[in-house]
Amino acid sequence: MQGSANLNIMIKAARKAGRSLVKDFREVENLQVSMKGAGDFVSRADTAAEDIIRTELREARPNYGWLGEETGEEAGEDPTRRWIVDPLDGTTNFLHGLPHWAVSIALEHKGEIVAGVVFDAAKDEMFFAEKGAGAWMNDRRLRVSGRSRMVECIFATGVPFAAKKTLPATLQDLARLMPHCAGVRRWGSAALDLAYVAAGRYDGYWEREINAWDMAAGLVIVREAGGLVGPLREGHDPLVHGDVLVANEAIYNSFAGIIRNT
Ligand code: IPD
Ligand code: CA
Ligand code: CA
Repeated sequence: MQGSANLNIMIKAARKAGRSLVKDFREVENLQVSMKGAGDFVSRADTAAEDIIRTELREARPNYGWLGEETGEEAGEDPTRRWIVDPLDGTTNFLHGLPHWAVSIALEHKGEIVAGVVFDAAKDEMFFAEKGAGAWMNDRRLRVSGRSRMVECIFATGVPFAAKKTLPATLQDLARLMPHCAGVRRWGSAALDLAYVAAGRYDGYWEREINAWDMAAGLVIVREAGGLVGPLREGHDPLVHGDVLVANEAIYNSFAGIIRNT
């Protein structure tokens, strides 16, 4: 697919950060013996990847704004455009030597996500989309699954760690959903959960209390693959309130009804 100049810039930055992360990932496998050592190393890997992305994007588009997980928010001369970046989504997997993590880069224009890239560097899977131009993984066009029976569907979510206050609500969601479907996966990267819904690998995904950088790129990829996107609570905006639910059109209402308990 022939992408816009902005999309090409995003893909180039994601590849460059991905190369750096793959190198660090090989080392983290050796560092696993000492949790502290590995943890420190991972935060350095995150920061290094964000620096690479920021440098690339800033060089190409010096006037755009910025929101990055590691470096925070910065207004640009152009108030209508900003990059939203998670340099390493799936940090816990990375730290444990599990090859399921990604670089996530989105472009927001006038409050709307218009392009997104989610790069799984360990598997060399580049998921990307631009508003109106479809969603892709490498050179393959993406389409959400066509499953219409809940009992055949697989869903993904994120289960909050330790004592986060949303844990009971998520456990209740699971108790309501699991009797109706083929399974639930918790693989530890919201960006890839969304990309996998777009690819038809999962049929739907929901999660509470995540950040804009976890989901921004994934949301446009899901929409462009024909999926529906909504909040968990009426009136919420996923990017602002941090709760999100996506699925293929056929099962969206049944799935949303179970998760929203309506
Ligand atoms: C996390 C992952 C995870 C989700 C967490 C996020 P991080 O991002 O996306 O799947 O359940 O809520 O914080 O910390 O690995 O960038
Ligand atoms: Ca994240
Ligand atoms: Ca992160």
